[in-house]
Amino acid sequence: MAELERTRERERPPLQDNPYERTLKYRREQAERNAHGPIVIKKSARQVFMARQGRLRFFLDPGFYQDVPLLHWRVFTHEIRTKSGRHRHQGGLVIYVLDGKGYSIVEGQRMDWEKGDLVLLPMKPGGVEHQHFNLQPGQDCRWIAFSYMPFFDHVASEFTQTEVSPLYKEQS
Ligand SMILES: [Fe+2]
Repeated sequence: MAELERTRERERPPLQDNPYERTLKYRREQAERNAHGPIVIKKSARQVFMARQGRLRFFLDPGFYQDVPLLHWRVFTHEIRTKSGRHRHQGGLVIYVLDGKGYSIVEGQRMDWEKGDLVLLPMKPGGVEHQHFNLQPGQDCRWIAFSYMPFFDHVASEFTQTEVSPLYKEQS
């Protein structure tokens, strides 16, 4: 009887591709990433790049790095030489200052911060416009942001660039 079942197993046609099977596959892959994906994201595995907003290093980003256990977070550092670009998107994320001293203009208001501080981007209808400045140009000024991405989808957050980083302009 067991032999007959094994034969039937071998003869079963391949599973059809359909939304239900894709769901199961996605869940299996999710479980696999959580069981075996990297627990430490090495700095050396993530390059710094120049974006319109500034010098960034993305440790986690669901749209770009998909081999990690937590696909719901964007975590990135931002190194500010003089000032960042300026953009608008919904708040709800936190920024921890790793090095230096600077300030952010959030919805037209200056907010000063320094190493060890936590900066919050508040939530407002239409989002918050913001830009970051280094108060000691020539010295390290760097922070790391933690964004929970499903939240951005749920509030239909858009990104609008309203000024480009001077470093980005220099290189292009
Ligand atoms: Fe931002």
